[in-house]
Amino acid sequence: MKVDLTDKIAVITGAAAGIGKACAKLMLENSARVVIADINDEEGTKTAAELSTIGECEFIHTDVSNRENVECLFEKVLDRFETVDILVNNAGINVIRNRVNINEYSFEDWERILGVDLNGVFSCSRAVCRAMMEQKSGRIINIGSVFGSVPARKQIAYVAAKAAVHNLTRATALELAPYGINVNAVAPGSILTEGTKELFYGKEAAHAEAVKQMLAHIPLGRPGDPEDIANAVLFLCGEESKYITGHILTVDGGWTCGYTRDF
Ligand SMILES: NC(=O)c1ccc[n+]([C@@H]2O[C@H](COP(=O)([O-])OP(=O)(O)OC[C@H]3O[C@@H](n4cnc5c(N)ncnc54)[C@H](O)[C@@H]3O)[C@@H](O)[C@H]2O)c1
Repeated sequence: MKVDLTDKIAVITGAAAGIGKACAKLMLENSARVVIADINDEEGTKTAAELSTIGECEFIHTDVSNRENVECLFEKVLDRFETVDILVNNAGINVIRNRVNINEYSFEDWERILGVDLNGVFSCSRAVCRAMMEQKSGRIINIGSVFGSVPARKQIAYVAAKAAVHNLTRATALELAPYGINVNAVAPGSILTEGTKELFYGKEAAHAEAVKQMLAHIPLGRPGDPEDIANAVLFLCGEESKYITGHILTVDGGWTCGYTRDF
């Protein structure tokens, strides 16, 4: 897909790997200049160097759960580029192994996950929108999840955070529409990243049996690729989507559109 992002400055959180990296690559291929804001210095630096062969891409160390880090990120971006046109709130974490029900769920995991998946989205949106309000334009795209619409068991913090992100998206869209800022979310289903490859789909996958059952409920019969999500994000950045705001765009191979069994 081609969208003209010439001269646009895009900040993508959690873009050192996975879906964020695919978004960064696609935006660079469509002429944007991209800032990767990630907590992982090694991967972030490596990814920025790799993607710099396509276009202008730099890494800024950022922990989105840390307010000072977030303020500092946007100060640096504005110092460097004087504007910021696109924010993709992509950084997200979950409990991967040893998933448990609410009665055993630790406060540490609850706070850690809410800190990144929800507070991070709030802090970054709050910081970026001041500049966007002044320039009277901008796009904010939040990466939610199908679990933000339809919850799953044994990941209570994640499903709560993602549901909040979906409603935060709509509320932010309401507030920022008068300033020419569009705010939308993309809700991925199961996506094949380096992380999920090993865990869900690899030989020693910890959740292999559960994943087999899940795939049976996905009408398109396969997990998505990071590029499937990046394409949706790219669409929401472009001129072509200028009348869309407050929308949650589900990209899940049909997983949540209904029952896959006959009654
Ligand atoms: N992969 C999936 O199947 C799937 C499904 C639904 C939703 N999502 C959502 O998509 C987004 C990206 O997921 P992914 O699978 O690509 O993840 P990933 O684990 O492959 O990559 C996440 C990136 O975020 C970074 N990160 C983690 N904590 C951070 C923090 N505090 N501050 C800044 N960066 C931080 C990591 O270093 C990493 O580079 C997440 O919000 C996730 O919840 C993913």
